Parts: sequence; structure tokens; C-alpha cells
Amino acid sequence: MSFVKYEPMGDIAYLTVDRVNALNALNSQVLTDLDEALDQIDLDTVRCLIVRGAGDKAFVAGADISQMKDLNPEQGEHFSEQGNNVMRKLCNLPIPTIAAVSGYALGGGCELAMACDIRICSDKAVFGQPEVTLGITPGFGGTQRLPRLVGRGMAKQLIYTGMNINAQEAYRIGLVNAVYPMEELYPAAEKMARRIAANAPIAVRAAKRAVNLGMQVDIQQAVEIEEEAFGSCFGTADQREGMGAFLEKRKHEPFCNR
Ligand code: CAA
Repeated sequence: MSFVKYEPMGDIAYLTVDRVNALNALNSQVLTDLDEALDQIDLDTVRCLIVRGAGDKAFVAGADISQMKDLNPEQGEHFSEQGNNVMRKLCNLPIPTIAAVSGYALGGGCELAMACDIRICSDKAVFGQPEVTLGITPGFGGTQRLPRLVGRGMAKQLIYTGMNINAQEAYRIGLVNAVYPMEELYPAAEKMARRIAANAPIAVRAAKRAVNLGMQVDIQQAVEIEEEAFGSCFGTADQREGMGAFLEKRKHEPFCNR
């Protein structure tokens, strides 16, 4: 039995962390299941992935505290590496990813959401990096992705205080892009995913790659990455159709990923 459900729905898909009785906390098995589920995605068909937690109480309430309690430093580092490898795989997935955060997204849960390209949440969502209240640091990317998303001052405040924030505050600081009543969250995620999926897949993937790679280098190298991404779209069937349709004042045919 896997703690992660992969549900393709045509050109979009859900990845659901499903360990409801522990508020979807990430232990080694859940991380392994996530890793395997990411490998399973049919990238020829699926054009956008929605990541969520089962139930409406939690997205993911963090790494599993009962598993971590008796780790020694070496084992702690190894667990962090396992989590970071999965977050990196998710972050580098060629297709766009949307975290749809229903409830608690704490510690490793906030880090899972931050490994996605886009975050939206319910008005009941709670975010935080409470690790220092447990005697540890964030370990699945929080010290690195949070400052890149909300700025280092706000990230340090959240990490040092270990305080949780609600959905509106997460929206205010730019951690999430939108807040919805719970019943509208997944329909909104699907609407956004389908909108992305309707666009030229080669261009969308190239744009994702350019943003991700460009954020890691200086601006000169970054614009060179953009030039390469831009150039790689030309000559594709979708570029010819997209531009041809515009100039012929007609709606473009569905993009074909070629
Ligand atoms: N690890 C293991 N089990 C967890 C868990 C976690 N992170 N979060 C919740 N659970 C379990 C609880 O132990 C409980 O199990 P039992 O029913 O067997 O007792 C079950 O899920 C339900 O949780 P609560 O009874 O605590 O539910 P609540 O509504 O009273 O509280 C909560 C909800 C505020 C989210 C609370 O569960 C909580 O504070 N959880 C821990 C949050 C946290 O500190 N996360 C960070 C972990 S460290 C980390 O993630 C490190 C990293 O960066 C890699």
C-alpha cells in the first residue's frame, strides 16, 4: 500500500499524500512513495501536476516527529538528504506543479508546498516552519526556499520564531498566490492546471526551466538561459501554429507538444 496516490485526469494529474491518521506527516516510507510516484508521471500526456494532502485538515503536518526523535546526527543528515532529494525531484519536474494547500502545511509540509511552482490554499490553511520549537532546523529545503520566496527578513522571522501564520498572512507575504474557501480550492487548482495545460507545452516547460535555472545564477548568465529557452521554441509545430493563428486572426488548434 502506498501513502501517495497518483491520479491522472487527462492532461492534468493529482498527487495526493495520503496518511490521514498522522496528518500526512512525511516519514521515510512516504518520501519513498513520493519519489516513486514522481517517476510514474507520464510526461508525454500530463502537462500540469496538482499536489495535495488527503482530508481537509492537513496538507502535510511536517516530517514525522516520531521517526526523527531518536536519530543521531548522521541519521538526521541522511533523513534531510532523503527529503531534499524528493523536493529537488519535484522542483525539477519538467511540467508545472501547483500545491493546493487545504490545512496545516508545517515544517516538511511547508517545504513540500515550496518545492512546487505555485501555491494556492484554503482559508483554513496554516503555514509555518516550527522546527526550532522541536530543537532542529528546517531540513527539507525551508532555510533555502523560504527566503527565496518571501525574502530573507521574513523567512528568518518565521524560522527563528517558529510561529505559524494563517492563509491571509501567507497571501500577504507572497507565500501563496490565492486563498479560496475549502470547497473552491481543488476546482480552482484544476482550473489553473487546465489553463496551463492548454498552453504550448514545450514553451511552458522551457519557461519553467529558465526561471528555475536563472534564479541560481547571476543576471547575465540568467538572460543567456532565457535566450536559449526562447530559441528552443522556434521551429516547433506549436510555435508555428500559435503565431500563424494569431496572424490569420483565428483560434489556434490545440497545441500538440511538438
Ligand atoms: N509527525 C508525526 N505525527 C504527527 C505529526 C508529525 N509532524 N503531526 C501530526 N501528527 C500526528 C499526531 O501525533 C496525532 O497522532 P495520534 O492520533 O496517533 O496521537 C495525529 O497526527 C493528529 O495530530 P494531533 O492530535 O496533534 O492534531 P491536532 O489537531 O491537535 O494538532 C497540529 C494539529 C497543530 C498540526 C499538530 O499535530 C502539530 O503541531 N503537529 C506537528 C507539526 C510540526 O511540528 N511539524 C514540523 C515537523 S519537523 C519537520 O518537518 C522537519 C523538517 O523540516 C524536515
